[in-house]
Amino acid sequence: MILDKFSLKGKVAIVTGATGGLGGSISLALAEAGADLVLVSRTFSLLKIVAKKIEKLDKQALIIGVNVTKKEEINLAIEKTLEKFGKIDILVNGAGINRRSIAEKFPEELWDEVIDTNLKGAFLFSQAVGKFMIKQNKGKIINIVSLLSVIGGEFCPAYAASKGGLSQLTKALAVAWAKYNINVNAIGPGYFKTSMTKAIYEDQVRNNKILSRIPMGRWGKPEEDLSGAVVYLASEASNYVNGQTIYVDGGWLAY
Ligand SMILES: NC(=O)c1ccc[n+]([C@@H]2O[C@H](COP(=O)([O-])OP(=O)(O)OC[C@H]3O[C@@H](n4cnc5c(N)ncnc54)[C@H](OP(=O)(O)O)[C@@H]3O)[C@@H](O)[C@H]2O)c1
Repeated sequence: MILDKFSLKGKVAIVTGATGGLGGSISLALAEAGADLVLVSRTFSLLKIVAKKIEKLDKQALIIGVNVTKKEEINLAIEKTLEKFGKIDILVNGAGINRRSIAEKFPEELWDEVIDTNLKGAFLFSQAVGKFMIKQNKGKIINIVSLLSVIGGEFCPAYAASKGGLSQLTKALAVAWAKYNINVNAIGPGYFKTSMTKAIYEDQVRNNKILSRIPMGRWGKPEEDLSGAVVYLASEASNYVNGQTIYVDGGWLAY
């Protein structure tokens, strides 16, 4: 039956950036659909809070402190995951940062920080998990990209470059690993209220400008608006969808 294909019962999902506004909600959506979770970020204390919410849904949550820019930490996380669950069905690369500055003075260290976290971190995690998924001959990888994967951002050259790169990486890995039944897709959120966008939505002028540009006339709600797309791309319902990005943006890109 079609609804059974959306079930994630018995699946194991790793979510990076699980303490974030979007990563936390994505983790809960996967758990609600039936998956056990491996929650990853650098802040152990915040991971514990997300884990408690997952456990309330009668799902298991393993928390692992990982900096996604560090290959050794990623490898250790995979080891711990396999030790506990013996498999990895789903990876969501949600860890991300943004640093804003005018392009002509954008500091090199901020450039490296953003590219290393958003692009290299997602690559290293996908590579480490991909090696295992290849042996398993099955897997789902979901990258969290952005509107800035396809449009420019005046003060975000590194962020736009990292997310454009991540969209391309999504396609490259989809093509490389399709023969192993691994689907690599992306979700491009529009504007969602999280700590990453706080400075924007608290600024009345910028907030109004953004709202006037969103056909649905509101910001995305982290706790509900991404859930459908993430469960779909993590589930068997999307088995023939590969290398795609679903933009969840209230119509922003269509405007
Ligand atoms: N909010 C939006 O409107 C929006 C729109 C488009 C795309 N996105 C993307 O969605 C993703 C989540 O964003 P958000 O809005 O939820 O931001 P957020 O609330 O600031 O969360 C960011 C997450 O990334 C983690 N993180 C950052 N650097 C890390 C590192 N080096 N290693 C491991 N984890 C790291 C953070 O955890 P720790 O600090 O605990 O490590 C946190 O869990 C990002 O990739 C972002 O680019 C967001």
